[in-house]
Amino acid sequence: MALKLNTDYTGGQLPAGALAAEIYARAKQAHLDLENGTGQGAGMRGWLRFPAEYPKTEEYGRIKATAREIAEQAEVLLVIGIGGSYLGARAVIEAVKSRYYNETRENTPAIYFTGNTLSESDYADLDKLIEGKKFCINVISKSGKTLECAVAFRYYKAKLLESCNGDAERANSRIYVTTDPYEPGRAPEEGTLLKAALEHGWRRFVVPKDMGGRYSVLSAVGLLPIACAGIGLDALIAGAAAAQTAYERPGEAFGENPCIDYAALRYYYYRHRRKAVEIFAGYEPSMVMFGEWYKQLLGESEGKRGQGLFPAAVTFTTDLHSLGQYIQQGRRILFETVLTFGQAANSIALWEEPGDGDGLNYLSGKSLFEVNRTAFKATALAHAKGRCPSLVLELPRRDAYNIGWLIYFFEKACAISGYMIGVNPFDQDGVEQYKKFMFALLGKQGKKHDQIRALIKRTYGLDANEK
Ligand code: PA5
Repeated sequence: MALKLNTDYTGGQLPAGALAAEIYARAKQAHLDLENGTGQGAGMRGWLRFPAEYPKTEEYGRIKATAREIAEQAEVLLVIGIGGSYLGARAVIEAVKSRYYNETRENTPAIYFTGNTLSESDYADLDKLIEGKKFCINVISKSGKTLECAVAFRYYKAKLLESCNGDAERANSRIYVTTDPYEPGRAPEEGTLLKAALEHGWRRFVVPKDMGGRYSVLSAVGLLPIACAGIGLDALIAGAAAAQTAYERPGEAFGENPCIDYAALRYYYYRHRRKAVEIFAGYEPSMVMFGEWYKQLLGESEGKRGQGLFPAAVTFTTDLHSLGQYIQQGRRILFETVLTFGQAANSIALWEEPGDGDGLNYLSGKSLFEVNRTAFKATALAHAKGRCPSLVLELPRRDAYNIGWLIYFFEKACAISGYMIGVNPFDQDGVEQYKKFMFALLGKQGKKHDQIRALIKRTYGLDANEK
């Protein structure tokens, strides 16, 4: 099994006896509900068996071919999307390649992610980066209506046309859309992006109907940008498919299925140890975006009905010099999920210097990997002593196969966790709330927006029409 769950750094905070049996039974039931489709939001479990099935599809081959085509024709790929429509792809590219992908790539386009902000200055910065470069666009939006994404698409579509000297056909050939599948007879107000794609002949890929954005990284949503970065999709999907097989069987008790064990231990900390925050901690800066993906997955899936652990993410040892203080001695509401990898091929060994001016000769002969690994052990021990337990996830390598495995592990553990606390891990009603207020304040027309404007005026005394 690629991934190992190590509980040596929990400082003894582990369930035992009848409590352990009770928690495991709950986790097992949640797993069963997920597998059998008897839990909440069962219609959104498309991701559960996707890794084993997807490589057999026509679209999978088309993604690889399109990535080659983009690499041949463009210096830059702009990926427009927000939330689940961008985080997974960016996380995988940085995790498997590097956070310096754009600076170190060879024969593949630079990839910039946009449409995930409304910041004018961010647009201006990106404008400078793509100035005079031949670029393609992959716009990713399930609904096609998400404001951040739609605004960016309108803006960069115009830039693309301009860069093609007004040649619409040429510009259209450089736009790739990942959105809802085509369904004849659907109401025209739905599938905005799909409708435009059909009209302009943009190449299309599908966001599966039975998959929420945060569970969609292993579909075309994530795979097209990932393939454009030159990452082998077969290895990524093989890792996820192997995890799918490995975690299918429920197990009878702790120690048999790490995915269920992890969900059960998270529940134990949440319900029985009064933990409110789970911190995802890595020792690799190239995993920062993976931490962002993890936060969305867990936060949007569990945080509802007044429930759920708050997911945070840190990078050690960097953040030991900032949040490390709080983790060690602040409110005891934290536990950590720590990710470690085995040694990479390129090793940097430290050496002895005459005079030992910097006092580092005691490290001579040690690799930087060993020093980092020791920092992990020391930190986990210190945190355990400070009553912040660590669940350690150990992977042999930071490559496509293992990252694919890790993605599936978290997706499944997250869904099981949601069921364990009695929420639907596949919806996200709360995200709509800010949109309602924003559209009303932006002056969108319609009765429902008028009602919100009236409510804002009544409750907060704020007039939406005032500048
Ligand atoms: O996980 C989710 O479902 C969300 O984060 C969405 O991915 C995000 O809101 C973007 O939505 P859309 O793809 O419809 O533009």
